[in-house]
Amino acid sequence: MGASLPALLRRPAILWIALAAALVAASVIALLVVPRSDADEASYRDPALPVAERVEDLLGRMTIEEKVGQMTQAAVPAVEDTPADIAELGIGSLLNGGSDALHDTPEDWAAMIDGFQRRALDSRLGIPLVYGIDAVHGNGALPGAVIFPHNIGLGAAHDPELAGRTAAITAAETRATGVHWTFAPCVCVARDSRWGRTYESYGEDPGLAIEYAGPVVRGFQGEDLAANTSVLATAKHYVGDGGTAYGTSTTEDYLLDQGVTTLTEDELRQLHLAPFQSAVDAGVGSVMVSYSSTDLGDGPVKAHADGYLLNDVLKGELGFDGFVVSDWQGVDQIGDDYAEAVRTAINAGIDMVMVPFEYERFITTLLAEIESGAVSEDRIDDAVARILTQKFALGLFERPLADTTGAADVGSEAHRAVAREAVAASQVLLRNENDLLPLTGDERLYVAGSGADSLGRQMGGWSGSWQGTVESVHDGTTLLAGIQETAASVTYSEKATEPLEGADVGIVVVAEDPYAEGVGDAGAGKHDMRVSEADAAAIDHVCGAVDCAVIVVSGRPIEIESHLDGVDALVAAWLPGSEGAGVADPLFGRTAYDGRLPVSWPRVLEDEPLNVGDPDYDPLFPFGLGLRTEATG
Ligand code: BGC
Ligand code: BGC
Repeated sequence: MGASLPALLRRPAILWIALAAALVAASVIALLVVPRSDADEASYRDPALPVAERVEDLLGRMTIEEKVGQMTQAAVPAVEDTPADIAELGIGSLLNGGSDALHDTPEDWAAMIDGFQRRALDSRLGIPLVYGIDAVHGNGALPGAVIFPHNIGLGAAHDPELAGRTAAITAAETRATGVHWTFAPCVCVARDSRWGRTYESYGEDPGLAIEYAGPVVRGFQGEDLAANTSVLATAKHYVGDGGTAYGTSTTEDYLLDQGVTTLTEDELRQLHLAPFQSAVDAGVGSVMVSYSSTDLGDGPVKAHADGYLLNDVLKGELGFDGFVVSDWQGVDQIGDDYAEAVRTAINAGIDMVMVPFEYERFITTLLAEIESGAVSEDRIDDAVARILTQKFALGLFERPLADTTGAADVGSEAHRAVAREAVAASQVLLRNENDLLPLTGDERLYVAGSGADSLGRQMGGWSGSWQGTVESVHDGTTLLAGIQETAASVTYSEKATEPLEGADVGIVVVAEDPYAEGVGDAGAGKHDMRVSEADAAAIDHVCGAVDCAVIVVSGRPIEIESHLDGVDALVAAWLPGSEGAGVADPLFGRTAYDGRLPVSWPRVLEDEPLNVGDPDYDPLFPFGLGLRTEATG
């Protein structure tokens, strides 16, 4: 239909002038708004350039709205019905909360995340999203994933290299679903076992977290963050989360979690800060702020508002050059005046805010603070540069969409073998009269207790859902199944109601029900760290009749002294995760008992806080205790 060239040439000059004017106008507009065609050739898109140059180039092209968008992290349920906001507001990050186990297969996760990612790529500058999840002991939101022992068990194993291998597998099983970022490791130092997050800690001694942080961060992040087996790691929660005093929490019915940590600055540095230095030295890409407050003598300051600890200490002194992310609604907790809370948090050094629901409110609030000059553009540029640096390192600009190559290996035999190794290494033998353990496997065994045949209990919180569940959705092997694999004869009766006749040895597996965070704080009749009535009855019945071993499945020490009459052997199994057979390995002598207590074991929970080195230290079992056995093959 178009006019032929000779015809065009015969058009009057006025048309030529109009055409030229239009071209000039178009280029002026092009210069003003930087259309995609320009962005496509922009140097930030050039993988051959150093990351710092790409960041600078991109930052120079961004509007203030786009910058604030990058600092915004929304939860999936918040954008599910409004996905167009991702491109429109330039949202920089998404996460799914602990209870958002959204899909059953890696491919379905990847398809969902890719769907959101395509929205982000449609934004003016096409800046990809970074997607985060709490893969704190394996990818707990993915049913087929291997679930490792929670950190307390890894700490009991006293083997940072092994912990690093578990992190590398978690990374691979997580990246294969399209997720780029895990909110782990918790390098928290649990000073009071009543804390509901004790199991997320490697133990009460900062030496453990100091040793573990490096190998675990390197395990997650790999040699190359852009590899399809690596995820960005998060050292959390900065700082002093494990030092809060009983009764200081003001969140719901929490007792310790999110409370106040009162100590001198020297103590804070030695007990809680030092592990962050290890994480920073290992190149950790992000740090999450603690809900807790720190009182160094001048009254409590919320960690989310603590410019001294975030700006001066973490970013200055420790040399952290990744980005700082808030905790879930952590900024809201600073105070009732939201504008003041946002201003305080960003000025204190928080780079990305896990909003996670009312993201438009966060964006308009921060924009107003910038407009008024209360938050400087330099601060915003610093925050965004930190975030973009990690996105470039993750290779997201080159490969924004999921690479599910690793999906085939999710929950593989090889991965489960490492988990089983970690479980076996984490078992702590606390009592072993007459060398009852290891068993030969030829005994007629009687197995009871609430932890024997419950995948959910052995996994604990952050498994399938935030709080975890007694009925698990994961694939795995219970302790009972592990015992049955080896033992010639096993009678199982959870409540020990079956007759004991003929049994040589009893094994009673007592357990805590799953919990997470402050919901699991113990005391005041909440989770009480006590043996349940049913488990206590099982111990009485079984151990009163035959030689017996008690195995404790728990995230922390429990009050057990009064149940130990007649108990010949006692084992702390922690929260082993999906590979319960690892508990059976030292039990039958395939491996040695070699774990050691990473926390002091109190007689009663009122003895907490109880830590090695305390004056009048009188634990039931001291920090570091662990009887050894030889592997018998
Ligand atoms: C927890 C964090 C977690 C975040 C996202 C918060 O409640 O304190 O550890 O990473 O939620 O699920
Ligand atoms: C979410 C968790 C989050 C918690 C904070 C839960 O609903 O699933 O991820 O840590 O809320 O309170």
